[in-house]
Amino acid sequence: MSDQHRAPSCQCKCAHQTQTDAEKQFNTSSLYHVPDGYTPWSIRNDYPSTTPAHDPTPLFGPDPITQSEKYLEAVKTYCLEGMVENDFVPQKNKKRQWYHAPWMHYSTDGREPLHGLTSERYLPPREFSATQERYTQAWAVGFFNATGASVLGEMWKDPNDPQWTKNIDFPWNTVIYKLLFSNATNNEIPFLAGAPHWQAMIAVQPEDPTKEPDPAVRITNAPNDVRLLQMDIAVKDKRSTATGWVWGTFIYDGNCGKTGYDGLAPVGLSWGNDPKLDQKAYESGERAKDVWIDGPVNDLRASLNGVRPFWGWNGRLAGPVDNFISACQSCHSTAQWNPYTQSQGTSIVPPAPDVTADVKFIPVNDNITMTWFTNVPGGTAIAPRAFSADNSLQLMIGYENYVAWREKNNWEQGGKKGPPPVDRRPTHRRQGPKLEF
Ligand code: HEC
Repeated sequence: MSDQHRAPSCQCKCAHQTQTDAEKQFNTSSLYHVPDGYTPWSIRNDYPSTTPAHDPTPLFGPDPITQSEKYLEAVKTYCLEGMVENDFVPQKNKKRQWYHAPWMHYSTDGREPLHGLTSERYLPPREFSATQERYTQAWAVGFFNATGASVLGEMWKDPNDPQWTKNIDFPWNTVIYKLLFSNATNNEIPFLAGAPHWQAMIAVQPEDPTKEPDPAVRITNAPNDVRLLQMDIAVKDKRSTATGWVWGTFIYDGNCGKTGYDGLAPVGLSWGNDPKLDQKAYESGERAKDVWIDGPVNDLRASLNGVRPFWGWNGRLAGPVDNFISACQSCHSTAQWNPYTQSQGTSIVPPAPDVTADVKFIPVNDNITMTWFTNVPGGTAIAPRAFSADNSLQLMIGYENYVAWREKNNWEQGGKKGPPPVDRRPTHRRQGPKLEF
């Protein structure tokens, strides 16, 4: 095998060997400068080389549908064990193997250099809380367990030639989770007082509070303090019969009497998209059924008097920083790659609803909106002719970034002939349409 196409058996440990440009990118943790005196973040990408057999025996004892709260606790414990004491450096975790998704560095909102955080969303003023008068920032890092990471390993066996030529199908008991940090102050979100905090090189906060920060414009000298606001979990669990996935989210609740990561209180768990709950049904009093939502934490949200009327669209589940016109299962089921257009090809969120004078959100065309709330079975793409990413938006974004890099690189190496490649990464994809309040 030539050096150019060497299999990455040692991935991030092969600095002494000659790496191709694609391998260098694959092993890049962040493109941003590490300020003096700070430890750089390192990607863990030595993925397992074989995918385990699909074993439907559940990893977690409690039933997600009938014992949702217990289920959330069991998954949270599994995710945090060995991680909290090692400040979420998976390379140091002796208890369980966790990995990061590749190629998340190569975009304007890509990984910052101290914790590998990517820019998630800028929360519009007053969306979450009445005292929030500027855009606040949310930054996150995700972890795949060994079962899930084996799929990344299969796709990226050769970082020079990643393979996505069929529907991705994560094995049962894949667990992926994400920690989300915010720069909101105690005044903006009072119950963040006492939350675990990290230092991170986030975006420059514009002086004008009506302006959204630009993820491409990062702070450069001293890092900012960001605090834990949310934790998301996703489990491929056979008991979720409609889509194969269970989605859960926690919020940091400084009032709950616990400290550190124990302060993460469950918000809810969902195992479907409530495809029958259209606008008419919702207005006639029907409520989401594929979801369990914690009552007191929902009251805590309501007590902030933000504009957001629910967690996810019409009572489905979405997290505190997520766009409420969407839902976990809805947004994630758009994770796909269309080989014909070489793009995702589908918006992750439905069209923005109209906002009435008394701040109610009404779909412009509910038939269209409801196409984002079908139950797409795991391993099936939402659009025809596309390959499913089986709900993993990080797997999709990493591949999309790689394709953008490859096109740019080929164009530059080819002597800049013809027009430069089109940047297919839609801006604001993660935010979705902006709602003006
Ligand atoms: C409006 C779209 C949207 C909604 C709603 C949403 N997510 Fe995501 N999620 C994303 C995007 C985009 C990514 C990948 C980018 C990143 O992580 O920086 C992602 C990444 C993740 C990941 C990492 C694994 C992966 O590859 O996708 C997990 C786990 C996750 N989300 C869980 C959840 C849960 C749980 C909810 C609901 C509480 C939720 N998400 C709601 C857009 C969304």
